[in-house]
Amino acid sequence: MPKLVPLLTENDIRKRVADIARKISSDYADKQLVMIGVLKGAFIFMADLVRCLDIPVEIDFVRASSYGDSDTSCGEVKLQGDITADIRDKDVLLIEDILDTGQTVQNLIPALECLGPRSVKVCAFIDKYERRQTDCHADYTCHSVEGGFLVGYGLDYAEQYRNLPAIYDLKLNSARE
Ligand code: IMP
Ligand code: MG
Repeated sequence: MPKLVPLLTENDIRKRVADIARKISSDYADKQLVMIGVLKGAFIFMADLVRCLDIPVEIDFVRASSYGDSDTSCGEVKLQGDITADIRDKDVLLIEDILDTGQTVQNLIPALECLGPRSVKVCAFIDKYERRQTDCHADYTCHSVEGGFLVGYGLDYAEQYRNLPAIYDLKLNSARE
């Protein structure tokens, strides 16, 4: 049976999201902020984050898939669909659920830069740095962790657990603990 080891409670999440929302509101106070969420994982984080901002914000979503139903990356990132928001001369913040190898963000940033934004930065709810293969980094994050496979608050394993309101480390079997 998979085991869910608690990592962040709902209360931890609420505080940390409020903290980075305050920072983003201050850093982007005089800018034209467009938040672009990476589906599906970022949907809950983004919904909470935008409601904590006290500055104007436009939102859009892109879809990227890299994992299939496995918990290890196949190293390929597929982007699905176009970015429809007009981001020319605007300040884009890419919203990810978790930054792992960095492949997704590394593929998305050039695609966004082609559309002429004034700036592109990255906000990842979780920065999981052990397997980073790129020089991508999160400009804003709520939590840094070395490794593990995390679920809940939008993060899935084989499309399950996204609905959990807290973050857990998923232990698939005792050999991996
Ligand atoms: P990257 O391209 O390797 O940085 O991976 C980014 C994507 O992989 C995330 O947006 C997630 O969808 C998925 N991912 C990476 N690590 C985890 C994890 O621990 N739990 C759930 N999904 C993960
Ligand atoms: Mg994702």
